[in-house]
Order: sequence, then structure tokens, then C-alpha cells
Amino acid sequence: MSNLPSDNAARHFQSLDLLATLVAVVQLDGTVVFANTAFEDAMGISRRAIEGRYLPDFLGEDDLLMQALVGAGSHAFSALRYDGTLQRPNHDAVAVHVIVTQGDGPEAFVVEMLPQEAQVRQEREERLLDQAKANKELIRNLAHEIKNPLGGIRGAAQLLQMEIDSRELIEYTQVIIHEADRLQTLVDRLLAPHRKPHVVSDVNIHEVFDRVRAVIQAEFPRGLVIERDFDASIPEFRGDREQLIQAILNITHNAAQALAERIAVGDAMITFRTRIARQITFGKQRYRLALELHVIDNGPGIPESIRDRIFYPLVSGRDGGSGLGLTLAQTFIQQHHGMIECESVPGRTDFKILIPLP
Ligand SMILES: Nc1ncnc2c1ncn2[C@@H]1O[C@H](COP(=O)(O)OP(=O)(O)O)[C@@H](O)[C@H]1O
Ligand SMILES: [Mg+2]
Repeated sequence: MSNLPSDNAARHFQSLDLLATLVAVVQLDGTVVFANTAFEDAMGISRRAIEGRYLPDFLGEDDLLMQALVGAGSHAFSALRYDGTLQRPNHDAVAVHVIVTQGDGPEAFVVEMLPQEAQVRQEREERLLDQAKANKELIRNLAHEIKNPLGGIRGAAQLLQMEIDSRELIEYTQVIIHEADRLQTLVDRLLAPHRKPHVVSDVNIHEVFDRVRAVIQAEFPRGLVIERDFDASIPEFRGDREQLIQAILNITHNAAQALAERIAVGDAMITFRTRIARQITFGKQRYRLALELHVIDNGPGIPESIRDRIFYPLVSGRDGGSGLGLTLAQTFIQQHHGMIECESVPGRTDFKILIPLP
């Protein structure tokens, strides 16, 4: 501490504040020279109260940390990672995965602490994002492959139709044309989100929800209550209003469809909830502020068999479903740098949309 005053340290290590991972910079003797914002938040005490302290005081297995520091200093790499427990003054202890690396001086070691639960979640989110990216690529390629010959098939059927007189045979060419048109529409829908320009304006999220509510209530006028639990302090933000309406409409429409039985009985309920989330992490990034939106229904839940695949294209649990609704919704929210998650058990399905705010 004495040879590196805190203000200097803060400036020197400032970029570590942008990380979602808990990071402490320590000296070889275990003294904390810098604690990043994520670490400060997780501990629930200010960095001033952490800096200058002995890090092993906070990390359960102090021998392991000291061994790791010595190991990192002498480049004995095997000692660099271990599982430990972070003791927090006013909160429960958390299991963390500790990674120790030599920093940019002989007396500075970077100690990363990854809460194990967060690590699992982060891996899952990364997987989701990777999958979404791969999906998009696959859809785009597939759609183009189908689109090109489709025009030829339709054109040929039309030419054929002009050449034949028999009513019965014309019915066949009609089927070809009709089916080609249906496929064309499907392909256009698959390609649409990638083609559509992203129109940015000031968006009032409650107005978006009210639009969705009006559409759904028009389709399901009886037996379905849509409750609004809004945080009125949410500011307007820059976004694509039409895309957001479409995304939330797709989610809500699924909920209303899943509620069919309860609508018949008359106790179906959908809740729209809006909140501001602070200091949250998703998709590897940490955000100071984000919109947290929920669409919750009291329906039967998502069928187990498709639960982890619902955001994939063409996955549907309904007869006649296209399986595109949630894929499009996810794409639109990702264009806002956000993501959609879902938790579902019989009686309660909760779609959570996170959108970072500047
Ligand atoms: N709120 C919900 N409750 C129960 N099942 C749902 C809910 N939302 C989505 N699902 C399931 O996810 C599937 C995929 O939805 P989606 O991508 O919109 O495609 P589609 O509605 O065309 O089937 C639905 O068919 C349904 O089985
Ligand atoms: Mg749908």
C-alpha cells in the first residue's frame, strides 16, 4: 500500500472496472492495492475498505492464495487456479473460482474471482449467443438456397398452366403455384429481420406494451386479464419501436395461445412487468443500467421436450406453428444488444427481456 497510493492505483487499474469479473490486484504479501467495481459490489463494501487489507482475510483458503501468489511470481503455473470461498461481511459467502496471474510488475498480481454460479450462467449465455449467431447464418443460407429455385418452379408452373386446357390438370399447377407462394412467404419471413433496416427513435417502453396489450385483447376479448406492473420512472431510450412491438407481441401471443384452457375457464392472466436493473452482467458484458422486462403467464408451461430449444427456428409445440416467433423476437432484442431468457414451470412461464441502457 505504502509504495502505491490508492489514487494512483485507481487510475492505473481503471480499465479493470469495466470487467464483470471480480478482480483484486495484490502484492506478493497478499495486500490489496486495488479492488475493481465488480469486486466492491460483490463484497457490499467500498473499495477503500478493501484496499490495504490482506486478501486472504476475504478468501477462505488463505494458504492456497499465498501458494498461488508465490507460484505466479515464480512462474510455477500449476498453482494459478483453485476453487475458493469469498467471505463477505454482510452477505453469504460465495463459492468462487480463483485465477491468479502475474501483473505488469513483480509486485502486482491480478486475482480474478469468478462466482461459480455466475460462471455457469455466463457459459450458458455465451452458448446461447453462439447458437443464435450460428442459427442466423444457417437460416440465411438455407433461405437463399430455397428462394432461388423457388422462382423458377413457380414460373415454370405458370407457363405450363398456359399450355394446358384441362381443368383437372390446372388444379395441379395451381397447387404448385400456391405452395411455391407459401414457401416464398416463409422464406421472406426468415430473411426479413436481416434485411430490415434498424429504425432508431425515442421509445417509450410502456407505450410499446400498451400497443401489444391492445392487439392481444382484441384477439382474446374475454377470459384473459393483462395486468400492468410498470416502473413509471423508466426513461425513453433509443431503439426500434416496431421491432420491440413485434418481439413483445410474439412472446405475448405465445402466452395467450398457451392459455387457451384458462381463457375458456376465465382465469387466464398475463403480467407485463417493467423494471430498471442496475449493475448487471449478461453476454460477457457488464452494464450499469438495463431495462428488465417480463411477460409472465399462468399457463401450462413450455413443453419439456422443446424447453431448451424454443429460440431455435422452426421449433414449435403447436400444430400449424411456424416456430419463428421466438427466433424473430430474440433477433430483434439482440439488435438492441439485449437478450431474452425464459423460465417455465407449469402454472408460471416468465420471459425476461434485458436491454442495456446507455
Ligand atoms: N408462454 C408460453 N407457454 C407455453 N409454451 C410456450 C410459451 N411460449 C412459447 N411456447 C412454446 O414455444 C413454441 C415456440 O414458439 P414460437 O417460436 O413463437 O413458435 P410458434 O408460436 O409458431 O410455435 C410454441 O409453439 C410453444 O410450444
Ligand atoms: Mg409464436
